[in-house]
Amino acid sequence: MGNRLESEEGLGEFFDYVRTEKIQSFYNEYYARAQKSRVHSEFCRLVYGHDFCQHGMLDMSQLDKLIEVAQLRQNGLVLELGCGTGFMAEYISDKTQCQTVGIDISSAAIALARARAQSGKKKLIFETKDIEKLDYPERHFDAVISIDTLYFVEDLENAIRRMAKILKPDGFMYIFYHVHPDVGRGSDPASRSPLGVVLARLRLTYRTLDLTKENREHWELRREVLLKLKKKFEEEDNMFLYNTRMDEYMQNFGEYHRFLYIVEKDPSMQRRSHSRRAMEPHPAEGDGGSPPGSRRIDLRLRYGRSMRPMGPRSRRRTQR
Ligand SMILES: C[S@@+](CC[C@H](N)C(=O)[O-])C[C@H]1O[C@@H](n2cnc3c(N)ncnc32)[C@H](O)[C@@H]1O
Repeated sequence: MGNRLESEEGLGEFFDYVRTEKIQSFYNEYYARAQKSRVHSEFCRLVYGHDFCQHGMLDMSQLDKLIEVAQLRQNGLVLELGCGTGFMAEYISDKTQCQTVGIDISSAAIALARARAQSGKKKLIFETKDIEKLDYPERHFDAVISIDTLYFVEDLENAIRRMAKILKPDGFMYIFYHVHPDVGRGSDPASRSPLGVVLARLRLTYRTLDLTKENREHWELRREVLLKLKKKFEEEDNMFLYNTRMDEYMQNFGEYHRFLYIVEKDPSMQRRSHSRRAMEPHPAEGDGGSPPGSRRIDLRLRYGRSMRPMGPRSRRRTQR
């Protein structure tokens, strides 16, 4: 409840209720409309490379890169936070054969996700749930994924603490996160961001993949596509969707830094080679090895500030 006045503390539950209601009602309307809209589907295909009813900034090349970096084990258990209508959770599950649980605060989104999942998909579970109230058993998931969702939580530290708790000891979080341009005025925006600060405070080790360039390209493309499709949105009587997506553009998110944070629950348990591999450019990145049409992402990761020597855990690391 960071910025709240002391005199307002007693109203905590009320503020939480209002905030949650606001987010829920916006996203309920957004997903209900977007799912039915042909022009929004076209928008998603042109901007993200596929219509997954996306509402973040993650296009197909970033999604595939996530799958490549994460190297999830077959039959592993994955949690996706803020999964919307669940298409990306389904894609991840199909590609990796992991059991995937998707949660979202929008009941409309989860209803749509469930309706699809029930018609044949076995490895998918969808639940309406608030990230700030995660109540899964401790040490349950191999990975927790958050795609452009953690901006909505009131208490980021509480959310990250809960995410860490439900991860298996050798588990990882994969967090796509925007960082305000002012944060990067000095240097090291990833570690100076609210997320970087919380991870350091919780002594969680992380690496980052810089997606700032891809982010700028995303927003330029988004504007171009929206302007091109404006008439179709009008004809469909769906200016709510057009205005929503254009308003996001007007927030100047294209100026933000963007990172994928790869967070280890306990570095001493590290068993997967992916983080090490990813320290170097991937062979497919170097010489035109990417599939046609996909944008290449530099996979060189850098250590976050919390990797610096800090207590017993870091001593263990240096001994290895
Ligand atoms: C920007 S959208 C991103 C959706 C999806 N991950 C994507 O990339 O298209 C944020 C999502 O987080 C969900 N959300 C917001 N606050 C939440 C919370 N406290 N708990 C669970 N989901 C939440 C919203 O309903 C929405 O689906």
